[in-house]
Amino acid sequence: MIIRKAIKEDAKNIIDYFNKVGGESDNLLFGKDEFKNMPIDNYEKIIENINNSKNDIMLVAVIDDSIVSVGFLQSLKKERLNHRANLAISVSKKYWGQGIGKAMINYLIDFAKQANIKVIELQVRCDNERGIRLYENLGFEKIGIYKKYFCINNLYYDAFLMNLYL
Ligand SMILES: CC(C)(COP(=O)(O)OP(=O)(O)OC[C@H]1O[C@@H](n2cnc3c(N)ncnc32)[C@H](O)[C@@H]1OP(=O)(O)O)[C@@H](O)C(=O)NCCC(=O)NCCS
Repeated sequence: MIIRKAIKEDAKNIIDYFNKVGGESDNLLFGKDEFKNMPIDNYEKIIENINNSKNDIMLVAVIDDSIVSVGFLQSLKKERLNHRANLAISVSKKYWGQGIGKAMINYLIDFAKQANIKVIELQVRCDNERGIRLYENLGFEKIGIYKKYFCINNLYYDAFLMNLYL
């Protein structure tokens, strides 16, 4: 497995990956095929913008030329808040439980340290035990509950807000 920064040539494969993983759990901010109308050149620009921002990063994990995980760190853009960055991660279901999520987040944490980010933030469904365990193992702490954070098929789900202080 190779973990590396996304490049604009990955755009189509990343869109295909999101369309698939969106249907593999209800833990993400998007569902199955939600990216199917995303033009490839729009997503190429998104990747380029992230790569041109010194406090943002988009990572992919690749096995045999297939994307198996995507992770982001995106900083807040206001000067008084840009010591904070939001983390998002997904791993293709076939590869869960093999340490890929952990390896991706460790890479994102190393990047954050180099970028002088002081707080990594994330939001995770309160019933996402695998995600919560992964984050707690890496030092994230629960700082609160956001009630009705997600609305999925007309049902509301609470999320833990979790922070890692660097
Ligand atoms: C959450 C997710 C990113 C974890 O990725 P992963 O590659 O499966 O995670 P890892 O293999 O690195 O291990 C994660 C930790 O989960 C825990 N874990 C593994 N299997 C578990 C299970 N069945 N139940 C609870 N925890 C479990 C382990 O503690 C493991 O850490 P450890 O082995 O170091 O103790 C992945 O499952 C995923 O993409 N899920 C769907 C989308 C999602 O939930 N994204 C996060 C939204 S906030």
